[in-house]
Amino acid sequence: MSTEQIRIPLGKPGDFHVHLRQGDLMKIVTPTITQGGVSIVYVMPNLVPPLIDVDAVLAYKAQLQELSPETTFLMSLYLRPEITPEVIAQAAKAGITGVKCYPAGVTTNSAAGVSSYEPYYPTFKAMEEHNMVLNLHGECPSGDDITVLNAEHKFLPTLAGLHSRFPKLRIILEHCTSKAAVDAVLACGPTVAATITAHHLFLTVDSWGGNALNFCKPVAKLPSDRTALIEAATSGNPKFFFGSDSAPHPVSAKRKELGAAAGVFTQPYAIQYVAEIFDNAGKLDKLKGFVTDFGRDFYQTSEDKDVGKKSVTLVKADTVVSESIGAEDLTVIPFLASQSLKWTVEWE
Ligand code: NCD
Ligand code: ZN
Repeated sequence: MSTEQIRIPLGKPGDFHVHLRQGDLMKIVTPTITQGGVSIVYVMPNLVPPLIDVDAVLAYKAQLQELSPETTFLMSLYLRPEITPEVIAQAAKAGITGVKCYPAGVTTNSAAGVSSYEPYYPTFKAMEEHNMVLNLHGECPSGDDITVLNAEHKFLPTLAGLHSRFPKLRIILEHCTSKAAVDAVLACGPTVAATITAHHLFLTVDSWGGNALNFCKPVAKLPSDRTALIEAATSGNPKFFFGSDSAPHPVSAKRKELGAAAGVFTQPYAIQYVAEIFDNAGKLDKLKGFVTDFGRDFYQTSEDKDVGKKSVTLVKADTVVSESIGAEDLTVIPFLASQSLKWTVEWE
């Protein structure tokens, strides 16, 4: 019997949707990016207050870079009326990668978000001209026969509409959760892609009904939807790549009797969770495409740009997810806390 360890080179993986927060929580979360086997991240701007000017984004980036010097940070602005075509020109010049659009009220720190897309057409046009990425939180706000269960489905015509109006604009349907969303992305041209999280490859409605730790937006849907996500992620189609949507909240905000905070925390084990699913599906050969190549291609940031940085190897050895990270008021419970995963990561 061979005792040789199974080792799979993954290059310099990306997590193209992360929430790193601010203040003390940022200091706890940001250093865990490396533990989760990730080299490059795309950082969401839903801070308090939201990131709506170029200088604020650059200052935030500098803080993150200090906390995790080995990580490459791609930055975004928060779509609001302040994000004019002039701001887009400045942002592109300053090296900011994209703009995140949150429909008003659908998720954590989205109260300042968008309620109608038309007013932003000049901004989208400018983004198309400056080669910036539009990141869509793809849900309609609840109301009029819309609930968390069909909020993404109802949003899909908006995706198709924006794509046909701005065919050269690179658009990402973030954290897609349903078969309908996968099909909608497949129906669009090559400028439209989708991120898929780790937790949506594990969870369904039953996982969060009654368990606030698994509650996030968009909510996990039916088993058939989860199957469609696993198929898309493991398909080798470059339209689908990894964005964890790791969204840490202190346990006190998760365990509120009323209004539990939305978000699942996966950053410290990001690649390990995804490897578990790909392994179970017999598709480990497709993992590097999903976590490294396709996202980097879409963001036009090849591994060669990260010269001198270490690479990740996936190693067949158990990882036990910690019970919690942080302490006291800032205790955060990671996804699948205390459970064992089959893979670990090494940097070399
Ligand atoms: C995110 C957060 O907590 O910032 N929450 C979540 O449930 N995913 C916001 C988001 O991406 O929707
Ligand atoms: Zn998010």
